[in-house]
Amino acid sequence: MSTLDKIRELKRERNAVILAHYYVNDEVQAVADYVGDSFYLSKIAAKEEAETILFCGVSFMGESAKILSPQKAVIMPDMQADCPMAHMADIGRIQEMRKKYEDLAVVCYINSTAELKTYSDVCVTSSNALKIVRKLPNRHIYFIPDENLGRYVASQAPEKQFIFNDGFCHVHKSITAENVRKAKEAHPDAPVLVHPECTPDVVGMADYIGSTSGIIDFATANEAREFIICTEMGVLYELKQKNPGKRFYSVGHRQFCPNMKRITLEKVADALEQMDNAIELDEEVRILAYKPLERMLALGQ
Ligand code: 13P
Ligand code: SF4
Repeated sequence: MSTLDKIRELKRERNAVILAHYYVNDEVQAVADYVGDSFYLSKIAAKEEAETILFCGVSFMGESAKILSPQKAVIMPDMQADCPMAHMADIGRIQEMRKKYEDLAVVCYINSTAELKTYSDVCVTSSNALKIVRKLPNRHIYFIPDENLGRYVASQAPEKQFIFNDGFCHVHKSITAENVRKAKEAHPDAPVLVHPECTPDVVGMADYIGSTSGIIDFATANEAREFIICTEMGVLYELKQKNPGKRFYSVGHRQFCPNMKRITLEKVADALEQMDNAIELDEEVRILAYKPLERMLALGQ
């Protein structure tokens, strides 16, 4: 039996659905029931009725699914697939900021550990961060863990006073303004599409700034025939499916997330067969981490 047939059969047996982020390998996106950006996938995780969610992504995504849907088994194809940025904030500093600013809101990018979420007021993703920050009554915003996304949101919400944290995504940080300048020189008619995890100088060169879904939707709706892509290149799979006649250019050689790429079809089949890579969370942590995620779902609509 082929690996694909095995996955399809196991999915039925386990009453499972497969969720995949746009950054995982093409063949994994192809077998998934739902593929999307972090916000879309968390909404699906919260409302999907299957007993088992197999999450093709990194740990914080599986954790968020479990926090939102504790009654389901949330299984990961590879427990080592972890986002380094999810750990890049310090609880001591959060507490310090809370003492310093009375009206502080701790705004936590969903790319964060469950523990960091328990110290936060609201979660955001790259597609809803600006909308949610604008809706908060608080003037002071401590944005964790990603400095670049924080700076982008701050630039669009001048009425707020931001405190930044120095977390970053190494994949997006590897994209330099010089890379983008060269790509623009080679493809002068191609709009530059940038994920807000990129550095401010790269964001400053963008024709469009948005989440992975935003980038895909923009390129699909836009009349240009070629685009420069400043994010992880897993988005190419969906971009090419939706736009077979258009061309997409990367700007460097490091636009690949090694953690997302750990997920293979074989690991998907093994995880469904063994059911042994389940996300387990302490119930107290889960309940505390649920609040900022629930608030994100409410404010992000
Ligand atoms: P989005 O899914 O919100 O575009 O974020 C990208 C990302 O880095 C996920 O790890
Ligand atoms: Fe983390 Fe960056 Fe990989 Fe997303 S692309 S999982 S932010 S390291």
